[in-house]
Amino acid sequence: MRVLVIGSGGREHALVWKISQSKSISFLGAAPGNAGIAKIAKCFAVGAEDVDGLVKLAVAEKIDLVVVGPEVALSLGVADKLRELGIATFGPSQAAAQLESSKAFSKDFMARQNIPTAAYGVFTQSDAAIKFLETLSAPYVLKASGLAAGKGVVIAETLEQAKEEVNEMLSGKFGDASSELVIEEFMQGEEASFFVLCNSKNIIPLPVCQDHKRAFDNDEGLNTGGMGAYAPTTLVDENVKARIMQEIVIPSVEGMAKEGNPYNGVLYVGLMIKDGVPRVVEYNCRFGDPECQILMQFMPDDFAEILGKIAREEKIETALDFAGKSAVTVVMAAKGYPENYEKNGAINNIDNAENETGAFVFHAGTKIEDAGQLRANGGRVLNVTANGDTLQDALDKAYAAVKKIDAPSLFYRNDIGQKEICRNK
Ligand code: AMP
Ligand code: GLY
Repeated sequence: MRVLVIGSGGREHALVWKISQSKSISFLGAAPGNAGIAKIAKCFAVGAEDVDGLVKLAVAEKIDLVVVGPEVALSLGVADKLRELGIATFGPSQAAAQLESSKAFSKDFMARQNIPTAAYGVFTQSDAAIKFLETLSAPYVLKASGLAAGKGVVIAETLEQAKEEVNEMLSGKFGDASSELVIEEFMQGEEASFFVLCNSKNIIPLPVCQDHKRAFDNDEGLNTGGMGAYAPTTLVDENVKARIMQEIVIPSVEGMAKEGNPYNGVLYVGLMIKDGVPRVVEYNCRFGDPECQILMQFMPDDFAEILGKIAREEKIETALDFAGKSAVTVVMAAKGYPENYEKNGAINNIDNAENETGAFVFHAGTKIEDAGQLRANGGRVLNVTANGDTLQDALDKAYAAVKKIDAPSLFYRNDIGQKEICRNK
């Protein structure tokens, strides 16, 4: 197969890394890719939002399988256009991707299918939104319905703040994305990221991940796209996992098919778990970032074959075995992230860090400048990833590599995975 991966982050570097080990591939490209991806795949200067450019590229390069990383390409309908041309594509149609691209769609879908989630209302007018807020108690959860690059959720501590947010969001705080607003009940509990590979013939759960969204240790600081993650997590034991499959995942996949929007690709269900009871926080129509970096540590050698079978609506006959392994990723981010952050910081010693520890360093935001010098080029910059027989083994390798990387403009959390270590003490 000639394979093309769409995207340019750490998630896509991890996908490309895993796919590059597959014996069923003869060519591996990425659009647009990044400095790390360029070492193992041919990068093309076509952005993930340029649907026509991507389709032309796939045709010109005689691509057999396209693997779509980011939600934006899916929400613009890249999978539909590729499939129309007979190119197998891993990723949902534009209609199915509404599970992520419209929170109003996803909440109404869950209500129709009786899938447990927070009580909610959808609003385009502030009077009605404020009336609804007055029926809830603090804290208040307000969400831009559309895609807002992970920034569209506001948790307001007081009713006053929540009312102000309603007005700001409806008058364009997140552009078009917040012209429609979802207001929700606040759910207590601990979060987990649950992924399934699915098409009309399979629903295959992957190891359950836990992300660390706050910027600093002990979950302090601002919300980020994710500062690190590990899997598997015992937050979800076999009983909870069975409930998640029965009450949430199977009704989600079957419900989408029944409603005429069959889902193909990876479905990412963000969960809140309280006393063993799971409820949906949100759906995403793609791999998580940085969760993908750890999930790739568990995948079989010929992962491209699995992706191809999902994309072609084929049944995967052999069960995937993820037992006996743990994985972790530590995000190194530019100082100041997720607000204004340092740019262009030099990064050195990655190869040694990898060779001396057995960790893998995925590039999330880097570029190569002035005679080969690697530099930071984004908020989240590197994803230092390792696997081991136990979480502690994986953590030891990952943090040993983090400490060997020479990157004074970056920071990282020291406590990735510690919730799990403490849970099992
Ligand atoms: P989302 O983009 O919907 O995943 O929201 C971002 C983050 O906001 C989630 O990861 C949760 O930490 C938090 N969040 C969203 N909705 C709720 C809710 N209804 N109750 C509590 N926390 C929430
Ligand atoms: N790690 C959270 C996300 O990918 O949305």
